[in-house]
Amino acid sequence: MTVALDRKWWHDAVVYQLYPRSFQDSDGDGIGDLEGIIRRLDYLNDGTPGSLGVDAVWLSPTFPSPMKDFGYDVLDYRGVHPDFGDLATMDRLIAECHKRSIRVLLDWVPNHTSDQHPWFLESRSSKVAPKRNWYVWRDEKADGSFPNNWVSAFGGPAWTFDPATGQYYLHSFLEEQPDLNWRNPEVVAAMHDVLRFWLDRGVDGFRIDVMGMIVKHPGLADNPPAPGWKPGGSDYARFLWRNNRNHPDVYPAVRGIRRVLDEYADRVAVGEVFGTAEEVAAYYGGDSLDGLHLAFNFQFIFESEADRRFTPWDAEAIRRIVANAERALPPGAQPCWAFGNHDRSRFLSRHNHDGHGYARARAAALLLLGLRGTPFVFYGEEIGMPDVAIPENRLQDPARFRSTGRDPERTPMQWDSSEGRGFSTAEPWLPYGPLDINVAAQADDETSILSLYRRAIWLRKQTAALLRGSLELLPAAPGIAAFARRAPGAKAAVVVVNTSLEAQEFAAPGTGSVLLATDEALAGARFATTVTLPPLAAAWLQLD
Ligand code: GLC
Ligand code: MG
Repeated sequence: MTVALDRKWWHDAVVYQLYPRSFQDSDGDGIGDLEGIIRRLDYLNDGTPGSLGVDAVWLSPTFPSPMKDFGYDVLDYRGVHPDFGDLATMDRLIAECHKRSIRVLLDWVPNHTSDQHPWFLESRSSKVAPKRNWYVWRDEKADGSFPNNWVSAFGGPAWTFDPATGQYYLHSFLEEQPDLNWRNPEVVAAMHDVLRFWLDRGVDGFRIDVMGMIVKHPGLADNPPAPGWKPGGSDYARFLWRNNRNHPDVYPAVRGIRRVLDEYADRVAVGEVFGTAEEVAAYYGGDSLDGLHLAFNFQFIFESEADRRFTPWDAEAIRRIVANAERALPPGAQPCWAFGNHDRSRFLSRHNHDGHGYARARAAALLLLGLRGTPFVFYGEEIGMPDVAIPENRLQDPARFRSTGRDPERTPMQWDSSEGRGFSTAEPWLPYGPLDINVAAQADDETSILSLYRRAIWLRKQTAALLRGSLELLPAAPGIAAFARRAPGAKAAVVVVNTSLEAQEFAAPGTGSVLLATDEALAGARFATTVTLPPLAAAWLQLD
């Protein structure tokens, strides 16, 4: 089988997710901003291995917004929120990134706008308003109940009654986030123009929010009840999200979005999608690969959308997730992996039930960066930032599908051990995490997780097998997950992870040397047939 040889920059890229509110404050208001990001770009990539070496950044939404959902409620798709700066600063950010060969992805939110967006204000103004049909309006059912049984991803009904016109509008998230009607060609055209607006300004692509929900069942049919749901369980898990997520009608819309990106050279779209490996794979557009360039596989966060139980750090789970993804993707499709983001408890905290979260976070770095595909690193992961407990009176996130909301994983980046962590001179919008976890403390420490990330990212760039190789799972003892990466004309690499609390022997498929390991003692070592991996260790091997 020949694999598509048309390699683009994003095939080789490591992408860094920036949460702009929390990266760097430059104007002393306790909120991160674009100017702050510009000042920290050399940390991300100054062209030398002393920097992290990431190839692209994705900025969570930076548009004007009432901030009910921290920017995922967009007021104006063509602007910049004053907390973050203005269009001129955004243009400068793009230019400064490009100077450093860092590509820029913005966060496009096509499923819904803010309820304050002029389109919605017009839509709700009257049943005959020209933009009435830009959103999803329905009458109540004959018995006076909601138009259907859909629930909001944040809990409660997905419908809000608007007394002014006596109808309900659909909102898959907060009631301040009405869903756009993607069956209306005017909406499609307007949203495509938003893409062009930013592509013309030089952005390299988009992370697409809630990709799988933009087109729903044509008749908005009820969702079937989820087998096994019991009263007292979450609203979210009560129904199978069959008619409002990953509906077959979403794929033509995805192709339409791809065609807009194809009007420009070298741009990329990465979709936030949820589901099985097959459902994720479908967003690539089948064998013609005319859908999204990349679609997130979140299975290392949770494997099942239905129960949303965090995936354990476990060799068998790793093997299963990787095998399923490789099997499901069409030929030539590039996998896309993330172990964390602004919506989920941080990796280190998810895996810290026995106090070994830090060791697992180190191993996860080598897994994430050793997988075939485009890895996304969530800001702070590279310094081992944990979830931060937020006192009740400082909670910001209105979406409490977790009792804490999503604030714990959104706290400010910790640059140094000063009171303001090098982040801000003012009270930060969310509290800081532990003082000792910061960039300055780790920058010159060869044994730090930051040094491990840096080395892994730079080594990956130089190691063809890791960057471009195929992936083949290798037989290994329980407790170990291992796979080989092979590229023509290059030495093979093996990624091996010991998820057990005991040392494990790994039978290597040949002789070679250790390229990089979580444990200093292993690095550089030669091996003949077996490699002994300490508890919770991971390594990259190079075969002779
Ligand atoms: C996505 C975002 C999340 C947001 C939601 C609604 O899941 O990642 O932060 O709340 O969409 O836009
Ligand atoms: Mg600021």
